[in-house]
Amino acid sequence: MTIDLATRMMPADAASAATAARALAEGGLVAFPTETVYGLGADARNGRAVARLFAAKGRPRFNPLISHVADIAAARRLARFDAAAERLATAFWPGPLTLVLPKSIDCPVSELATAGLDTIAVRVPDHPVAREILAAFAGPVVAPSANRSGHVSPTTAAHVLADLEGRIDLVIDGGATQVGIESTILACLGGAPLLLRPGGLSRERIEAALETELAEPARATDAPLAPGMLGSHYAPRTRLRLEARAVEPGEALLAFGPVAASGAEHARAVLNLSSTGDLVEAAANLFSHLRALDAASVASIAVVPIPQEGIGEAINDRLARAAAPRSEGSEVRDQKSETR
Ligand code: TXA
Ligand code: MG
Repeated sequence: MTIDLATRMMPADAASAATAARALAEGGLVAFPTETVYGLGADARNGRAVARLFAAKGRPRFNPLISHVADIAAARRLARFDAAAERLATAFWPGPLTLVLPKSIDCPVSELATAGLDTIAVRVPDHPVAREILAAFAGPVVAPSANRSGHVSPTTAAHVLADLEGRIDLVIDGGATQVGIESTILACLGGAPLLLRPGGLSRERIEAALETELAEPARATDAPLAPGMLGSHYAPRTRLRLEARAVEPGEALLAFGPVAASGAEHARAVLNLSSTGDLVEAAANLFSHLRALDAASVASIAVVPIPQEGIGEAINDRLARAAAPRSEGSEVRDQKSETR
């Protein structure tokens, strides 16, 4: 999978942006500096590359990722801007501000990158190396901080290598990052802008640009309140039946691997996450397959057991959330588990 790659380290120079862009276009994982922290980049439109990224970080669950773009024109192809978002982007991009916005109708970013949500986080970083790479690649790049899950965010290329050597393709060394903490995240979803994560851009500067005070964050913590706070985890309307070994009458089947579940021939619809049993491919297909089966108007979706290894852990985490009965308290529980 992503383990045991020969990770190349290159100084940022005239040639490195083109090399990085080529690696991204081939589905590679490329760490590069932004003004906040080093990001681990992948082509946001390539679900398989995004799945490899989650596997390389060892994230036990699929958090939605930030799509990095070269300029506001590129951001407009991904998301819809309300008046507040326009103002903030004009005032602070490029810079350490991430906006969570409604996805555009024809948004090309993979479902896995946004964790199946109808919203998308976008930012235009302010670092010459990041900007050159984004200009050369000419497409959206998802980039969580370039560290193993649970470790601190890296501010030098050496930090990145210490965590991810052998798990990613390329590190572009552009020296130490300036800001050192992650971008501030604001949601602009029609109502008053909501501070989801304090970060490199101060509340005071945001309030000055908006000419209004931001609502207090719900918790005094630097842990992101997103996305549980928005109460918008992707969940299919159709009931999921997990660990299913046989298909019941009227059900659709979400399969995995080459062996057919018993009764598969009677399923109302069948999609296979990976017919070869490749968990990275399965992760890349997860949200889009769930959406497609959800649209099939069936009583329930039988989901075969998925191995609890590697990125399979994150797949099972998402399936368990999608299968959980939705009660009034569930949003609150969700929020707590997301902010850990
Ligand atoms: O400074 C930064 O923002 C760095 C550099 C590399 O750009 N990136 C970064 O990414 O911190 P990451 O993946 O560590 O944090 C992204 C945060 C997550 O907490 C995620 O929940 C939130 O953004 N997020 C992404 N999409 C979201 C959405 N649609 N709704 C709410 N929150 C979202
Ligand atoms: Mg992080």
